[in-house]
Amino acid sequence: MMVVNHLRNIHTEDIRMNESQLLEMMNNCRRCHTSEYAKWAAGGHAITYSEVFLDSIHNSTEQLNFDCLRCHGMFYEGIITNLAEPLSVEGPWSLRDDGKKDVPTILCASCHPIHTDGNPIRDILQDNYNLDSTHYAKVNRNSSIGFYDRAEKTNYPAKNLPKLTLFEGDTKVNISDDLAMRNCVQCHAPNSRHEAGTNDDRTPRGVHEGLSCMACHEPHSNDVTNSCVTCHPAISNCNIDVTLMNTSYVNPNSLNNIHFVSCADCHNDNRVISK
Ligand code: HEC
Ligand code: HEC
Ligand code: HEC
Ligand code: HEC
Ligand code: HEC
Ligand code: HEC
Ligand code: HEC
Repeated sequence: MMVVNHLRNIHTEDIRMNESQLLEMMNNCRRCHTSEYAKWAAGGHAITYSEVFLDSIHNSTEQLNFDCLRCHGMFYEGIITNLAEPLSVEGPWSLRDDGKKDVPTILCASCHPIHTDGNPIRDILQDNYNLDSTHYAKVNRNSSIGFYDRAEKTNYPAKNLPKLTLFEGDTKVNISDDLAMRNCVQCHAPNSRHEAGTNDDRTPRGVHEGLSCMACHEPHSNDVTNSCVTCHPAISNCNIDVTLMNTSYVNPNSLNNIHFVSCADCHNDNRVISK
């Protein structure tokens, strides 16, 4: 095919691989990016087909439908009816395509396009190779982040994804300019009316309005441990160690969700109403 495409002068930028080829390729990513791979495998983004489609609580709340595959299972080659049954809020549910049971649904290629704009770094070194200036010649690049759109079968680079617009009542929420966050909110998304706090929205509001997800979450494991020290205690209104305050950082059941908590959730004028 390479020879044929070369002779016919066909653009080969648009290389498409199927799910099993992409899974195979990930063993190759892992050779060099051992740490990223291990963190991904340990985090929630390695969620498998059975975990997504055989969850009885989720299935009895929201009926299995064609759109589920957009956010987990974007490389599945069939449609939902080939994958799972029954499409009903009453189970028991099973995978028709049983071979997918333990296969992960969000792959490296869900977020990373393989090819990126610009020149290979090797050229920079070869053209101006000079030990004194190499450090200055190295262009600082952002990691290539994108989002694989199942409907278009294309990975859109983050700069071409829309910045989220979100409303809390009539007020527009201030959103970070970080490009990486445009990836996150494709899946961790509010409802179609862009109302804050609906569906899987975790966009920071309240004390953390305007922060990117990446300010606290490690990209592959999603871990947040020790992220608070980037800004705290340098920033402190209450004069208390924020990691000990009553938020969902300390206690997952806290009513003060770290993504949304505001001063007013704990204070009424000068009075502390909730510790
Ligand atoms: C032979 C080793 C090797 C393999 C295999 C490899 N990478 Fe890399 N990758 C590198 C190196 C080295 C860099 C750092 C280059 C630099 O400094 O920009 C890098 C950089 C990256 C970056 C950040 C920079 C950018 O341009 O986005 C991403 C994302 C990435 N690789 C993803 C992947 C994925 C996904 C795979 C599997 C499809 C993969 N890599 C396979 C060696 C490898
Ligand atoms: C392709 C869809 C998708 C994208 C893109 C995505 N997520 Fe997720 N994320 C999920 C799903 C699905 C889960 C649920 C995993 C589970 O329950 O096992 C999840 C879980 C999480 C969790 C919970 C902790 C965990 O590991 O289970 C965090 C935190 C998170 N994602 C942060 C992010 C951030 C930050 C980004 C952007 C860099 C991002 N996600 C991008 C789909 C996505
Ligand atoms: C817009 C993207 C999107 C769509 C569409 C979507 N999900 Fe998810 N799903 C997510 C995200 C993001 C998470 C992580 C939830 C979190 O922790 O906030 C998730 C988590 C899950 C989980 C893990 C357990 C849980 O409830 O957190 C299951 C199971 C699941 N989804 C099933 C489904 C099914 C079944 C469908 C179709 C009816 C579906 N999802 C449609 C984005 C999506
Ligand atoms: C849910 C989206 C998502 C998935 C899935 C994902 N990554 Fe990433 N990756 C990111 C984000 C976000 C960054 C950091 C971007 C930034 O900080 O600018 C990143 C950065 C990287 C980098 C650059 C590291 C650095 O320090 O700059 C490499 C290499 C990489 N990822 C490899 C992988 C590999 C290999 C896989 C599959 C095992 C993978 N990623 C899966 C979102 C993802
Ligand atoms: C100020 C820091 C901070 C920012 C910014 C942040 N998070 Fe979180 N996130 C946390 C903490 C702390 C937890 C809960 C503790 C844990 O997972 O150990 C959490 C948990 C989560 C969870 C799983 C638990 C839950 O609440 O259901 C998801 C999903 C998540 N974050 C997604 C996101 C996304 C998506 C963004 C960006 C839109 C984001 N977060 C921005 C700190 C942050
Ligand atoms: C990127 C910077 C940044 C990170 C990272 C961050 N915060 Fe904050 N946080 C802020 C800012 C800024 C404020 C104050 C907002 C204001 O004054 O309106 C704040 C305020 C708070 C408050 C209100 C109390 C006070 O003293 O202001 C709590 C509680 C808090 N953060 C908890 C956390 C926790 C827990 C983490 C780690 C999971 C964290 N923050 C990570 C920037 C950050
Ligand atoms: C999670 C709950 C929580 C949040 C959110 C919170 N506070 Fe506090 N705040 C407290 C508690 C608890 C105290 C300690 C009261 C005491 O010691 O009696 C306190 C104390 C204070 C004090 C007195 C500090 C001193 O030196 O005595 C000020 C001022 C204050 N908070 C302002 C703020 C502002 C401004 C915000 C929003 C940026 C905020 N707080 C967010 C719980 C919170």
